[in-house]
Amino acid sequence: MENAVNAILQDDSTLLGLANNKNYGEYAFNHSVNVAIYAIALGQRIGIPKKYLSHLGMAGLFHDMGKTKIPEEILNKTGKLSAEEWSIMRSHPVIGTELIMRMKEWGELSTRMIEGAFEHHLRYDLTGYPKLARKKKITLFGRIVTIADFYDALVRPRANHRFPYVSEKILGIMLERSGKDFDPAIVKVFINMIGVFPLGTLALLNTNEMGIVAQTQEDPELIDRPKVCLVYYSDGEYRKGKVVDLREVDGVSGEFKRSIVKTLNPNEYSINVAEFLI
Ligand SMILES: [Fe+2]
Ligand SMILES: [Fe+2]
Repeated sequence: MENAVNAILQDDSTLLGLANNKNYGEYAFNHSVNVAIYAIALGQRIGIPKKYLSHLGMAGLFHDMGKTKIPEEILNKTGKLSAEEWSIMRSHPVIGTELIMRMKEWGELSTRMIEGAFEHHLRYDLTGYPKLARKKKITLFGRIVTIADFYDALVRPRANHRFPYVSEKILGIMLERSGKDFDPAIVKVFINMIGVFPLGTLALLNTNEMGIVAQTQEDPELIDRPKVCLVYYSDGEYRKGKVVDLREVDGVSGEFKRSIVKTLNPNEYSINVAEFLI
């Protein structure tokens, strides 16, 4: 992030503006940071040189910058948006691009940031928005930020999505739409990166126990055998149990002691996953 840091040191007004803007609440700021993290991690995996990873991070961080100019009533509306409200909402990639274009002193970095801001709602097959007058190929940064944005938007709860989706389901949707909405090669890498059972996944085990994925395994052969914090129900609430390693084998039968049967939606059990991971 060296270049990013330098850019911020030179002119921190933009980033501070993003952090302080009232329209742009905590959710939106966290979302921007998450998109940057996913984008950098993804970029690293597909071999983007380190020098450009900071540009990619900035493209992720500022992708929704145009939303700072969208009225709060529209941004936070819980009900359905009217056609007019939608068209205002859909203007955020263009507004973001204009805002970034004003940061001339950022040089090449601003060009890369524009790719994230302008293209993140454009799909791989060029549908989506903004509508293009002329067909153009979506840039690598644009394709990466689109994937990072889509995933983070669905994985966490917010005003107009009462419940977040479980990761497994989102990755399924992405795979289904790969080649249409998303670059198929990058989707594959992303799915591999997130893993089948990412940290914090609530899972049902074949022992009828419930557990939360507390540590994933490095070895790709064992990605379905993470360490899991068992969860048990007593006195009206779910409590933290011991951490077990799903690689553990039963000495007598030679079989795995526990395996994940399926993932569960933590909201249905009113479990705040974060509390179990601390
Ligand atoms: Fe957006
Ligand atoms: Fe976004």
